[in-house]
Amino acid sequence: MKLTDDQVEAYERDGFLLLPAYFSADEVALMRAELPAVFGVESPALIREAGSGVVRGVHGVHESNPVFAALVHQARMVEPARQLLDSDVYVHQFKINAKLALVGDVWEWHQDFLFWHEEDGMPEPRALTIGLFLDDVDEFNGPLMLVPGSHHGDLCEVSRQPDTEGWASTLTSSLKYQVRADTLADAVDGRGIVAPKGPAGSVLIFHSKILHGSAPNMSPRNRTIVLTTYNSVDNALAEVADPRPEFLASRRAVALTPRGAESLAPA
Ligand code: SIN
Ligand code: MN
Repeated sequence: MKLTDDQVEAYERDGFLLLPAYFSADEVALMRAELPAVFGVESPALIREAGSGVVRGVHGVHESNPVFAALVHQARMVEPARQLLDSDVYVHQFKINAKLALVGDVWEWHQDFLFWHEEDGMPEPRALTIGLFLDDVDEFNGPLMLVPGSHHGDLCEVSRQPDTEGWASTLTSSLKYQVRADTLADAVDGRGIVAPKGPAGSVLIFHSKILHGSAPNMSPRNRTIVLTTYNSVDNALAEVADPRPEFLASRRAVALTPRGAESLAPA
């Protein structure tokens, strides 16, 4: 459960850590079986792709779905987050990105902390995301791409897209804050880009300031990933003028109690 010193060092150096096959095939099957239900309920938390209208993702279902509620409390999730953030943690955001075969669209380059700071009032980048692969992720189905080490230093310069009032523009394929091309080139220079891949059940832990994005899914296989963001309880959101909905940015900074490594199946 505890990350090794080498793993902690790699996360601090690179801003991400891949743990292959962290959840079992049975656990993956259990979570996948919930997808029709969580993607099947029309609500403001269900996001659709701009052109095709297919499901792009859904937010906040850890509050209603017992399997995903169990997941976010799992010691296997909470303990590494506590270790890397050096404090108690709570779930700031939970989403399942569908990235469906042939139609799953791009996530433009961005740094999560910029959105959480600007939109939600998150004071410091003391948050991280654990991405859990519900499908095998390969080079063809739109893996997350990351710029190693880009979480060190200042946030990248961005230009704000015109006509992007409202929280929906923080979730679409054309993001509200766009990293400038020259800034991206500078960030990648000397660092390169990586796209960690692995079988379903693998997890990718990444820093709230790491520069990342993903290409459209041109393969015939889905790339569904569950993304749980843990924030330090010492880094609770400040008041903002027009807060995004609770399903995008939780204002309940209550420490999670990790639950044992028992099955994800609801009791
Ligand atoms: C994200 O950056 O929040 C999601 C990216 C992806 O699902 O590829
Ligand atoms: Mn992101």
